[in-house]
Order: sequence, then C-alpha cells, then structure tokens
Amino acid sequence: MLSSQELRVLFITSEVYPLCKTGGLGDVSAALPAALRSIHTDVRLLIPGYPQILAGVKYKSRIAEFGDLQQFPPAALLSARLSLSKSEHIPVFVIDCPGLYHREGGPYQDALGRDWPDNALRFGLLSKIGAILASDLSPLAWRPHIAHCNDWQSGLTPAYLHFHPGKKAATLMTIHNLAFQGIFPPGSVVQLGLPPASFDINGVEYYGNLSFLKAGLYYTDHITTVSPNYAKEIQTEALGFGLQGLLAARRRNMTGIINGIATNEWDPAIDPHLAKNYSSKKLSDKAANKSALQQQMGLTVDADIPLFGAVSRLSHQKGTDLLIQVAPQLVKLPAQLVVLGSDHAGLEHQLSVLAKAYPYAIAVHIGFSEALSHLIEAGIDCFLMPSRFEPCGLNQMYSQRYGTPPLVHATGGLLDTVVDYTPATLASGSASGFLFHPMTADSLLNTIKRAATAYHQKKIWRQLQKNGMAKDFSWHASATAYRELYSSLLR
Ligand code: ADP
Ligand code: GLC
Repeated sequence: MLSSQELRVLFITSEVYPLCKTGGLGDVSAALPAALRSIHTDVRLLIPGYPQILAGVKYKSRIAEFGDLQQFPPAALLSARLSLSKSEHIPVFVIDCPGLYHREGGPYQDALGRDWPDNALRFGLLSKIGAILASDLSPLAWRPHIAHCNDWQSGLTPAYLHFHPGKKAATLMTIHNLAFQGIFPPGSVVQLGLPPASFDINGVEYYGNLSFLKAGLYYTDHITTVSPNYAKEIQTEALGFGLQGLLAARRRNMTGIINGIATNEWDPAIDPHLAKNYSSKKLSDKAANKSALQQQMGLTVDADIPLFGAVSRLSHQKGTDLLIQVAPQLVKLPAQLVVLGSDHAGLEHQLSVLAKAYPYAIAVHIGFSEALSHLIEAGIDCFLMPSRFEPCGLNQMYSQRYGTPPLVHATGGLLDTVVDYTPATLASGSASGFLFHPMTADSLLNTIKRAATAYHQKKIWRQLQKNGMAKDFSWHASATAYRELYSSLLR
C-alpha cells in the first residue's frame, strides 16, 4: 500500500478562493486541498487560466504545450503556486488558453449574467487536460493516482479516461450541486472528441442532450456528495434532477462526506473584517459588530432588537422568494433583516423594494462582498437559510462558529450540521439553531418567531451560541475521510 506522502491527487476545479469564487465550490477547492496537504497528501489543483487566476498565482512557469488537441484552441500548461495565507500554499496547474479564458466577466457567465456560449469547449478543455494529466499521455513527470473531479465542469474527465486504453488514474467525482449539470446539444459529443457510441442512456446522454455531470457520474470509479443526507436525497425523485435512477444504481459507489470550513479564515477571534474580535469566552464583544453593522447598513442602532441576516446567491435553491414573502411580518415582531446577495435581477429588485419600504428595519446590499459577508456573520443575531435543497451549505457552519445561531430548512447538509433547539437538545448541549419544515412561508415565519422568543431569553440564547461555537467544523475529519477513500480506490 502507498504511504501518505506518495499519494498524488489532481484536484480539478473551475473556481478557487480567494482568486475566483462564485459560491461554496470556491471555498472547498482551497480548503480541502490545503487540509489534505496538511495530512501529507500530494494534492495539486488544475484550473482554467481566467484573468484573475493568471494575475493572482505566483511563480508561473510554462511546462507543457497543447497545440494539437484537435477540438480545442491551442493551450499551454503553467505550473504555479496559490497562496492561501503566509504559511499555506497549494501547487496549481493553470490552463492558459487565451481563446477560451482570457475575457472579462465571471467563470461561467458574462457581465450580464448570460452563460458563455462556448462553455462546452471551455470546460471540455478543462476536463480533457485533466484526463491527459491523469494518464500515460501526460507530458509531466508528476502523475496522479487519483483524478478528483468537482461538479459538471470536470465531468468529462472520467469519460475521456474511460475511453483511453492506456494507463490512467482512478477517478472520483464530487457532486457539489446536482442542479447544475452542464447540458449541451447532442452535436457537442463529437465536437468534444467523445466516441459517438457514448451518446447513450448508458453513457453521456441525458434526455436527448449531452450532460457533463451525468458523464462524470456514469464513468467515474466513485462518487461523493458533500453531506451524508444529500447523498440519500439525490436518490429520490424530489431531489434527483432526473439522475436519481443512475445515482440509486451507483449507491454502493457513493459516499457522503460533509464539508468542513476554513477555520483560520472564519475565526471571530482574528477576523480582520470585524469591528471587534471576540470568542466564546468574551461573547459580549460580539455586540460591537451588531451596532457597527446596523450603522453601516442604515438600520436603527438597537442592541435589543433581534437582527436576522442572510448571505447567498439569490435563487430558487436558496429560497430567497420565501424570505421576501415573510420579511414584512418579520419586521413587525419587531426584528430587523440584512441581506447580502446577487445573481438574479428579479429577486434583487424585489429585495430593493423591501429595503425602500422599511428603511430602518431592512437593509439590502446587492453584490458580492467577502468583507461584508464576514461582518454580517458577526453582527447579526440569527442567520437565515431557507434553502429548498442544500447539498452541504457553508454559512450555517460559519454562523455557528460566529455565535450566530442559524435558522435553516431541514434539508441536505443543513440537517447534518444544525441541531434544532428544544428544551431537551439544549439540556444535552447539542442545540445550535432552528430547523423548519415544510418549506412554506408559514413554517419559516413561525420558526423566525420561535427564534425571536428564544433571543429574548438571554440565558437560553447564550447557551445556543456557546454550543455552536464549541462544535468542530474544521476540515480535519473530512479530509481524513477523503484520504481513506482515495486509498480504497487504489486497492
Ligand atoms: P453555494 O455554493 O450553493 O452558493 P454555500 O453555502 O456552500 O452555497 O457557499 C456559499 C459561499 O459563498 C459562502 O462562503 C458565502 O458566504 C459566499 N457568498 C454567497 N453570496 C455571497 C455574496 N453576495 N457576497 C459574499 N459572499 C457570498
Ligand atoms: C454547492 C452547494 C452547497 C455546497 C457547496 C460546496 O454550491 O450548493 O450546498 O456547500 O457546493 O460543496
């Protein structure tokens, strides 16, 4: 068997914090490889060379040319280093392909929120180079034992490897979100250099189109999802997005491993974005963040009013519509609400209308702001996550670490990471937030009322805060589980 030091993993991803992040995948793509490296696993990232990646990585050197990949424009491979902190660095391979990646805008969409029309090629190339580096076609001396693919953007790597007759790495496909599948017209199959015969129900075909994610799930050696509960949910019609049959058939090759969080980035005792740092031993200092946030967002500065908050992609998944629906009643409790989010013009508009209607009780910031997201976690009293589905979710864990009990829909990873407050769970020391179900405005509002009542019972609230802060959400246990899984794939 391989010793830890010898295990080499190519971690293929389309975003990575702090250079390019649209959501949790960016956070995980930095924190998980770092945690694996700290337990002596040689993990290296493969990522497209968007402008912000090329500008942000250090010590770039050109190590290979891919001028003859028929379907794709010429590309080069750079070796570089991604710094997460003064002491934490991850080796990265960056695909430099000006024709596909040198453009302003987001990784998946242009500045107006339209998908890039050549996304099949852009992430086909990521998948293809992933497969080359993970096989005996690689121009590099460094050969991974495992190609660890993440979401649809690297979903074709297991397919390309499947059709490669030579030596190749074992593959792991992690589902961060089944709602995004990378679906393209049937003609893309040949355009991307996949055998026409792969366009089959037993292959890459999904309801008459090519699905990158389905390809990955079909051909990969093993599947993980980012929480045990979500691994069960996606085998059902309700949350399987049409892939429940395939996932149920592959359940013996599927594991749910809960995400951790970067406990150094998200630590109220040292967080540079806070008005005042605090810890569970000095929780009274959290109050300074509440007044700073109220002031900054133009809310009435009031230490005693419960302040609810949300930071998220504004979307159907995140239940933003439900939040908008209950906001007027939340204000009447009385309570305040602060929302940071972006991504959906209609929901952005509705939130702005609410903020205008209740200027001192509801504040909305449309946009993406890492700094404000930290201040919100520290400054609010209770974090709202009414997600319709949530593969894992990170903010409910950040919240608990910040002494901000989360109020969440009982689904996916939220159910795995938040313990509902009842007298019994409080007495046993496990209660750390509030769960609601079913996914209705009434049920959400009633639970918000339950939280507001608990908030005014200072001893109970303190206990909830302390229970959450005492939990271990670090990556160590999950990184160890990934390591064991990698090893088992080689046996
Ligand atoms: P998802 O990946 O589905 O969006 P997660 O809860 O896993 O959900 O991760 C979301 C991450 O993105 C968190 O780190 C969250 O703080 C961050 N985030 C989402 N929207 C914003 C925003 N508008 N500004 C700053 N950070 C945001
Ligand atoms: C996805 C999911 C989220 C998860 C994140 C990281 O974007 O929506 O629940 O936490 O990926 O795995």
